[in-house]
Amino acid sequence: QVPASDLTTCEATRQMLEKARKDGVVLNLDRAVDMKPCPIGVESACCKHCFMGPCRINPRDPYKKVGICGATIDTITARNLARNVATGSASHNDHGQHILHLFKGIIEKSVTDFSIADTRKLQNLATELGIDTEDRSVEDVAKDLCDELEKTFSNVDGEMPFMKRVPAATLELWRKDGIVPRGAMKEVMEMMSRTHIGCDQDYNHLMKQISRTALADGWGGSMVATELSDIMFGTPSPIVAEVNMGVLKEDHVNVIVHGHEPAMFEGMLAGVNDPFFIQAAKDKGAAGINLVGMCCSGAEMMSRHGIPHAGNFSSTEAVLVTGAVDAMVVDIQCIKQGLAQVAKCYDTHLITTSDRAHIEGATHIQFDETDPRTCTDEVLIKAISRFGSRSQPIQIPNQVQKGIQGFSHEYIEYMLGGTFRGSYSPLNDNIINGRIRGVAGVVGCTNPKVKQDYVHVELVRELIKNDVLVLQTGCSQIALSKAGFLTPEAAALAGPGLSEVCETVGMPPVLGLGSCVDNTRILIAASAMVKAGGLGNSIADLPAAGCAPEWMSEKALAIGQYFVSSGVYTVFGVGFPALSGTRFHDLLFNGLEQQGYGKWGMAKDPIEIARLMIDHIDKKRSQLGIDK
Ligand code: SF4
Ligand code: FE2
Repeated sequence: QVPASDLTTCEATRQMLEKARKDGVVLNLDRAVDMKPCPIGVESACCKHCFMGPCRINPRDPYKKVGICGATIDTITARNLARNVATGSASHNDHGQHILHLFKGIIEKSVTDFSIADTRKLQNLATELGIDTEDRSVEDVAKDLCDELEKTFSNVDGEMPFMKRVPAATLELWRKDGIVPRGAMKEVMEMMSRTHIGCDQDYNHLMKQISRTALADGWGGSMVATELSDIMFGTPSPIVAEVNMGVLKEDHVNVIVHGHEPAMFEGMLAGVNDPFFIQAAKDKGAAGINLVGMCCSGAEMMSRHGIPHAGNFSSTEAVLVTGAVDAMVVDIQCIKQGLAQVAKCYDTHLITTSDRAHIEGATHIQFDETDPRTCTDEVLIKAISRFGSRSQPIQIPNQVQKGIQGFSHEYIEYMLGGTFRGSYSPLNDNIINGRIRGVAGVVGCTNPKVKQDYVHVELVRELIKNDVLVLQTGCSQIALSKAGFLTPEAAALAGPGLSEVCETVGMPPVLGLGSCVDNTRILIAASAMVKAGGLGNSIADLPAAGCAPEWMSEKALAIGQYFVSSGVYTVFGVGFPALSGTRFHDLLFNGLEQQGYGKWGMAKDPIEIARLMIDHIDKKRSQLGIDK
C-alpha cells in the first residue's frame, strides 16, 4: 500500500486517509492508485463518436492509421477536446442561467427570501452594458439588466453582452477570426453538432468553434454567475476565514455544504441562525450548529461571509471519516459519487438538492428558491437528529489555518488605487517599475494522479519568490490557504519587490478571488490592466500567465481554453489530452500564439511550470520594453 503521505500534503487528509484504511473504507485517493488509466485514452488518441468504432490510434505512430471514417489523429483529438470544452462551458452556463433565473425571481417578486445586496454594483454593471440608469428605480434598471444578460444564453446571432468589456484589440482579433460568441446555448449546440461523425473535420476550423464555445463560458455564463451573485449576495471584500478540517466542532451539529451554486448555501444561513433550530440542537446536547463549506460554493461563502471552509475537492470523502459530519448537503458539480458509500459507512446524511444532480444512495430534498426553507429546514432536522444519535467515534484533525479571502476585482482596484474611484494604474506602475514582475492566475482542481496540494503550493511559492503576484480561485486557493499563504505575513516568502508592495498596501502576495466561476474576475482585472495603459493593447500583451497545476475536470479545460483564447499563456500540470508531436497539439501549444492568442503549455513539476510562466512573463516584459 502506498503511504498516505505520498498521496497528499494535506495533514488533515492524510490522517483521515489512514483512519479510513483502518476502518476498511476506500477513499478516492486509494481508488486512484488502483486505477490504471488507458494509455491510448490518456493521449486522446481514441474516438467513440460513432458505432463503426470505437477507433484507436497508436500514440507512438499517430499518422500511420486513421479511423474507419478516415478521421485523422488531429480530427479525433480536436473533436475530443471540443466536446470536453462544450461540457465545461455548458456546466458554467447552466450555473449562470440558474443565477439569472434567481435574479429574475427577485425582480418579479416570486422569490422573497433573497434580495439585491449591492445596488451600486448593479448600477455600475448596467451602465457598463449601456443601460440607462439616470433617475430610474433599482427595480427598473434590474429588469433591463436581466433582459440584457439573458442574451448571454439565448442569442443565436450577434455578440454576447459582455463583449463590451473586452479590450478593443482583443475583440478585433476575435471578430477577424469569427469567434465572437453569440449565445451560450447556440455555441454549445453547434459544437456538439459539428463534432458528429462526418461533419467538421478540419482541426483548424474546429479550433475556432472550440475557442468560441470557451469564450461563451468565461465572458458568458461564468461572468453572469459572478456578477449577479455579487449583486444578490454581496461583492466580496477582504475577510478573515478559517480553512481545513479543524473547523469542524465535536460538540456542534456539523453541516457541510459542498458544490457550486451559492443559492442553497445562502439559504442555509437563515436556518442555522433561527433560534428554533439552535434550541433544537441544544436540546440534543449540542453547543450549536456549525455551518461549513467545501469546494466552490464553500469558496464563495468564505469570500462573502467568512464562513469556514473544510477543504478542497480531494478531501470531500476524507472529511466524512471524521465521523463528525452530521449532514453533507450538495448541489452540482465535482460531487463524487463515492461520497454516497463513505457517508453510509460513517452514518452521515448525504443530501442532494438540485434536480440536475441526484446520486444513488443519497437522500434527495429538492431546493426551491421560491421556498428555500422547506429544503434547508429538513436538512437541519436530519442533521440535528443525527447528532443526537451519533454512533461513530469522532476524530477531527487539529488542522486549521486563518487566511484573508474575498479579493473581488473591484476591491483590488480600490486597494491599489486607494479610493473607491481607484484604478489599476498603480498595479501597472508597479509592474512597469519592476517591483512586480508580472501577474499569475493559479487556479483549478486537485487531481489524485498527483500528490494533493503539492504542485499548487510549490508552484505558488516559486512564483512569489520571483516577484510574481498570484491571483487564485477554487480548490487551488484552498490549497494555498491551508498552507498559510493567504496572509500578509506570507509577504516574507515573496521576492524583495513584491514583498515591498505587499507591505505598503498591507496585502498578501497571494490574493483569493473565490470560486471557479470567479475566474472571470481575473479576466476583468486583465481587461482593466490593459485599459489602464502602459502594458500594451491587448490581454496577450500583458506580462501574465495562468496555470491549473492539478486540474481534472472538463470545466478546467473550458477555463483554460477561454484564457488561451483571451490571450493568456496557460500551463496545465498533470498532463494534457492531446498527443505531443501532432499538428493539433502544435496548434494549441504554438500556432495559436502566432495568430495573436495565448497558448497552452504543459509540465508536471512545479518548478518547471514556474519557469515556463516566468519565462513567458519576461518575454512579454521585454516586448513591452520594460525588462528589469
Ligand atoms: Fe472511428 Fe470515425 Fe467512428 Fe470515430 S467517428 S469511431 S474515428 S469511424
Ligand atoms: Fe469549482
